[in-house]
Amino acid sequence: MNRTMIFAHRGFSARYPENTMAAFRAAYDCGADGIELDVQLTKDRIPVIIHDETIERTTNGIGFVKDFTFNELRNWEAGTTKNNQEQKCFIPSLDEYFQWVKHTNLITNIELKNGVIPYEGLEETTLEMIATYELEDQIILSSFNHYSLAKIAKLNPNIETAILFMEGLYKPWDYARTVGARGLHCFYPVAQKPILVQAAKEQIAVRPFTVNEDEDLKRLISYQCPAVITDHVDQALSIRQKYDD
Ligand code: G3P
Ligand code: MG
Repeated sequence: MNRTMIFAHRGFSARYPENTMAAFRAAYDCGADGIELDVQLTKDRIPVIIHDETIERTTNGIGFVKDFTFNELRNWEAGTTKNNQEQKCFIPSLDEYFQWVKHTNLITNIELKNGVIPYEGLEETTLEMIATYELEDQIILSSFNHYSLAKIAKLNPNIETAILFMEGLYKPWDYARTVGARGLHCFYPVAQKPILVQAAKEQIAVRPFTVNEDEDLKRLISYQCPAVITDHVDQALSIRQKYDD
């Protein structure tokens, strides 16, 4: 049986502040195979890990990521962890994440958040940083902006990419290849058995998001879906364990 890989969506975001080093470390400690995170550019062109284009939902600040320098962004708190003692979290830079992840065997799915704001140079900057840390074999780049994926395929055809999409793509494996992608990161209801079977034949990896209900996790793991992206890393791992036994 092909084991489904468990990717932690924004880190172990069911328990820790999303897209923070605490959430990434917790996902690793829990036993996740991979981490999904979202990247945007600051005013001074530093890639930072945050989901929204604005900072108010996940920090105590207000404004657009693009309007702050990295140092300014670090003034805001991105939640606290509540383990033995409270610890403040901050928006991580991609560099800080790479410094940590390079010492692990985790796969990282970097979602380029350039669907709404077309951050100029985001692809080049991210690829340069991946090369600097020699992380090419541990990275999957994805985006809802498929022009961006086509650009990446031209800049570095060896980097694995995946299309993000919500629904209704006809023969998504054929479409994915037109932008040089080898992965389908679809909204989870799209990942029905015929799609999974054909994608496997086409050697295209399906990694649905965000799979948080036991029923969906069981279905996808029993269909040997290559990976699932979930907030509930612990839950997904314990369900997978039952299929391993
Ligand atoms: O990459 C999968 C998933 O994260 C895409 O949606 O909005 O959670 O970034 P979102
Ligand atoms: Mg994402």
